[in-house]
Amino acid sequence: MGAEDIISDAAGAISADRFVEIDYDEVIPNNVALGSDRQIQRALEGWRPKYLDWWSGMGPIGYQTSEVYLRTAVGVDPGGWAKFAYVKMPSYRWGILLAPKVEGRTIPFGRHKGEPAWQEVPGEHRALLRRLIVVQGDTEPASVEQQRFLGATAPSLYDMRNLFQVNVEEGRHLWAMVYLLVKYFGRDGREEAEALLERQSGQLDNPRILGAFNERTPDWLSFFMFTFFTDRDGKMQLAALAESGFDPLSRTCRFMLTEEAHHMFVGETGVQRTIEATCAAMVKAGIKDPNDVEAVRKLGVVDLPLLQRKLNFHASVTRDLFGSEISSNAAEAFGSGIKGRFNEANLKGDDHVLADATYPVARVVDGKLVEEQAPALRALNSRLLDDFIADCQGGIDRWNRSIEKAGVAFKFVQPHKGFNRRIGEFAGKRISPAGEVLTEDEWQARSGDWLPNDADMAFISSLMKPCHEPGKYASWIAAPRVGVDNKPGDFEYVKIY
Ligand SMILES: [Fe+2]
Ligand SMILES: [Fe+2]
Repeated sequence: MGAEDIISDAAGAISADRFVEIDYDEVIPNNVALGSDRQIQRALEGWRPKYLDWWSGMGPIGYQTSEVYLRTAVGVDPGGWAKFAYVKMPSYRWGILLAPKVEGRTIPFGRHKGEPAWQEVPGEHRALLRRLIVVQGDTEPASVEQQRFLGATAPSLYDMRNLFQVNVEEGRHLWAMVYLLVKYFGRDGREEAEALLERQSGQLDNPRILGAFNERTPDWLSFFMFTFFTDRDGKMQLAALAESGFDPLSRTCRFMLTEEAHHMFVGETGVQRTIEATCAAMVKAGIKDPNDVEAVRKLGVVDLPLLQRKLNFHASVTRDLFGSEISSNAAEAFGSGIKGRFNEANLKGDDHVLADATYPVARVVDGKLVEEQAPALRALNSRLLDDFIADCQGGIDRWNRSIEKAGVAFKFVQPHKGFNRRIGEFAGKRISPAGEVLTEDEWQARSGDWLPNDADMAFISSLMKPCHEPGKYASWIAAPRVGVDNKPGDFEYVKIY
């Protein structure tokens, strides 16, 4: 499909009267007055066909001509920023949207605390800032690539639509980072923008930058766990960057967070609905013991111990994304006012400079788990990871409440921070989910109980049969409580052509 078709198609899909803040007459919808910035506009218009090639080559397999009931951002006002309509994915209006500028905003932390926020890149911090934007940008297309096979096995049209919504928004997040690179980093930025379309998830020669974004997302349970855990890493990173003294980055990330909430919703409710289907089937069949795996699997639902193993895997792989607990790069990013802590501007009780502060960091010393006070500046990754783990717990508690409500005796638990880690303090250590330090032999003997094994993955894969009839759901997942945009239960979220 040529660029002309894409533009006219999309114009038909979105009604013009809602475009309050964003100019959708432009090739690239935006609220950054791109039209008055010819050079940047030309650079982005030059990147756009390459992006569309990447989308058609590496985006969702199939369904590219289907009409998908998607939301598109039409403003940045929290009260009403999205519009729902049927859209063919290649015609989605990927735009550049920044949250409104806060007049008089100052840098909330670090050495430059209290100085006016930067509207241009501060020369001394240029390399670090570029790196952070590239690493964030790289995760966006990576997850689209990881999820590209899932459409064919969607357990319902509702779920298929949610998958594609997440995918197009990750595409928009890539646009958001590319805008910053092209606008503020000159030729280097343009080269980075190209490279973001060249690396590929899981490819050996030119993989995505971070480990978890090279893992496979082979099935829908993996997708839900990924959006629950890994998109939540995205939330934590975006929230830390939203505090940045570099104002365009802050404003970009603030708007991305609005979209990110939906991705985590898809993950949390996806697992929740899987749990509901399992518990309902167990109750109906009179199965009391959640560990009677064979009997549970015969019902065409996912046993709870297997869900716990999936949780253990995704939690631990995602925790590695936070990097080394003790990190001089993190200290530098904070000290220089580029990346704050979660919720930085609203944190009470410290000076936001942290020159003399300490933070407790868990580590293994002489074969024992201990907690040591580390300089707070160097322990910022550790702190963000702790905030992440606390943020995950809310959703896990909600999962546990629905198990309890069904009268099934089972409870999900987050594994210990050191379990199955490859990066940071616990890399090379063997720690059980309960937090015991193990020998290599003990780990080899027991880790099969803690991480999904081949039989688990084969069972999950046997459940992945498409269910593409409006209002119908695969055996292993319950219907959602409410439809997207309050649509009725039998709404045709994807018109498959
Ligand atoms: Fe994203
Ligand atoms: Fe996301």
